[in-house]
Amino acid sequence: AARDPAARPLAGMKMLVTSGPTHEPIDPVRYIANRSSGKQGHAIARAAAAAGAAVTLISGPVTLADPPCVTVVHVESARDMLAAVEAALPVDVAVFAAAVADWRVASAGAQKIKKGAAGTPQLDLVENPDILATVARRTSGRPPLVVGFAAETEHVVDNARKKLARKGCDWIVANDVSAESGVMGGDRNTVHVVTRDGVDSWPIQSKEEVAQALVARMAATLKDRG
Ligand code: CTP
Ligand code: CA
Repeated sequence: AARDPAARPLAGMKMLVTSGPTHEPIDPVRYIANRSSGKQGHAIARAAAAAGAAVTLISGPVTLADPPCVTVVHVESARDMLAAVEAALPVDVAVFAAAVADWRVASAGAQKIKKGAAGTPQLDLVENPDILATVARRTSGRPPLVVGFAAETEHVVDNARKKLARKGCDWIVANDVSAESGVMGGDRNTVHVVTRDGVDSWPIQSKEEVAQALVARMAATLKDRG
C-alpha cells in the first residue's frame, strides 16, 4: 500500500505545522502560557507524514513524544516559534495549530522575582507577533495553502470568519473549547472548517480522525489547484 499513490496523497509535498503552547518568561522560573496539549497539531503532523509529506513540526513545550518520521523543532516563546517557522519555509502547506501566547512580558527579569518588600509585581505586557498572519501576508514565498486554527468559547463560526479575513489565511479550523465541550486536553474534537467558500461542520471525532480528514482535504485542495 505504501507505493499506492492514493495512500500517499501528499508525496512530494512539504508541510510545516505549529503545535502546543508557547511559554513567555516572566523570570527564570515563571512564565505566561495558554492551555494546549498539542494533541491536535501533533496528530496533523503524524497524519501528513503518513500521507507522504515531508513535515517540519515546530512545537512549543508539550509532554507528547516527537511523532515518528517528522522533523521536530522545539521552541519556547512566540518569537522563537516565528523564527523557526520562517526557517522552515518554503512549504506547500503551513498549518498553525499552536496556541501562541498573545502577550509577553516587556522585560523578563534575569533573576527570580522575590516576594516581600517590593510588594506585588506589576507586569508590563507587549503583544507577540502573529505568526499565522505574518506568513499568510507574505508577498513572496507565501505557502499555497495556509491553514489557521481558532479556539473559541462562543460564536464559533462567526469569530472564525472574522479571523479568516483578518489574518489572510485560506482556512480556519474552528473548534469549540467551551468548558462543556470537553475538547481542551481531551482526545476528541468538534471542528468547523471555514473557507471563503463556506463552512463545513464535522461531527465529533477523535483528534486523530480530525487530522486524517484535514490531511485528505489538503491533498484534494492542492491537487485541484494543480
Ligand atoms: N496565531 C499565531 N500567532 C499568534 C496568535 C495566533 O500564529 N501570535 C495563530 C494560531 O496558531 C491560530 C490562529 O492564529 O492558528 C488563531 O489564533 P487565536 O488565538 O484564535 O486568534 P487571535 O488572533 O490571537 O485572537 P484572540 O485570541 O483574541 O481570539
Ligand atoms: Ca490568541
